[in-house]
Amino acid sequence: MPRVTFLPAGRSAEVAPGTSLLAAAGAAGVGIPHNCGGVCACTTCHVWIEEGGEGLSPVGDEEDDRLGEAAGLAATSRLACRAAVGGGDVVVRLPGNRIAS
Ligand code: FES
Repeated sequence: MPRVTFLPAGRSAEVAPGTSLLAAAGAAGVGIPHNCGGVCACTTCHVWIEEGGEGLSPVGDEEDDRLGEAAGLAATSRLACRAAVGGGDVVVRLPGNRIAS
């Protein structure tokens, strides 16, 4: 199964293809804020993809629109509740060192 690693915490989890990065973070013990509950209505789950972005699900119109409101927007930006893991490993960088308690 693909491995998703979250930086800067350095925690990772193996998840099934189709799993969102938000769910993968939970599996890795990394808390990503998701104020809207994961329905693409906020930008609190904004992350940057450092490796493996080409294997993620494509950016849809809804995500693209919402990402335009994200602080620190970059070419590698994704919303963790929208981006789903494909067949390959992924390295994700969070805006802060968020570790679930
Ligand atoms: S949790 Fe709100 S857009 Fe992802």
